[in-house]
Amino acid sequence: MTDVRWDDVDRYASDLLVRPDETLAAALRAADAAGLPPISVSPPQGKFLMLLAQAIGACRILEIGTLAGYSAIWLARALPAGGRLVTLEVDAKHARVARENIGRAQLADIVDIHEGRAIETLERMVAAAVDAFDLIFIDADKPSYPLYLPLAVELSHPGTLIIADNVVRKGAIVDPDSSDERVHGVRRYNELVARHPRLDATLLQTVGVKGYDGFTLARVVK
Ligand code: SAH
Ligand code: DHB
Ligand code: MG
Repeated sequence: MTDVRWDDVDRYASDLLVRPDETLAAALRAADAAGLPPISVSPPQGKFLMLLAQAIGACRILEIGTLAGYSAIWLARALPAGGRLVTLEVDAKHARVARENIGRAQLADIVDIHEGRAIETLERMVAAAVDAFDLIFIDADKPSYPLYLPLAVELSHPGTLIIADNVVRKGAIVDPDSSDERVHGVRRYNELVARHPRLDATLLQTVGVKGYDGFTLARVVK
């Protein structure tokens, strides 16, 4: 299920609207050279995340799932002076590559990479009553999305945007009998979002160089 036009249009959008950026290109090359999987958000998606963060004036951003730091660089670039991005990564090699990429992007001073299982880091942040985040990007292991949601809400304030990646999975998301635990995780996540009394949400399907997938966008309303 792909169409060459999806790639063509992504390239068209990138060439026209997403300025060539040597730092981001170098981050992807470093990820590839280190053998990391090619699953970073696409350039137009990265810019979309940056624009969203800027649109809401985000000063504190939380990311769950760093990989090589590609989306983290986009999001951190949205921050005003004094802003912070906290990103959570379980894999030591991914965290090392991300640290190098974020250093090259001159963002080491505003980005904290927390190594370890995200659930534990999130629980620690809740227990420590850290300042709420303005935008939260959930992009780690899909079966754990339902566990991340309540912790993300606890780390939010009214107005926080909670964005989850990979919620369509080539359309598999509509199959309640799927044997794929990632599909289960994302379906459960969307159900929890739908009935959460503090959230108002939508789901947007996407196509492009990353195939057919989508984002769930939830706003904390109270
Ligand atoms: N947000 C990145 C892509 C993240 S890929 C980008 O778009 O550039 C998903 C990442 O989540 C991987 O690096 C993986 O190691 C990490 N991950 C998987 N399970 C995790 C867990 N339990 N805690 C923290 N990170 C996890
Ligand atoms: C996968 C994970 C992602 O976060 C993504 O954007 C694409 C694919 C994966 O685990 O296959
Ligand atoms: Mg993803």
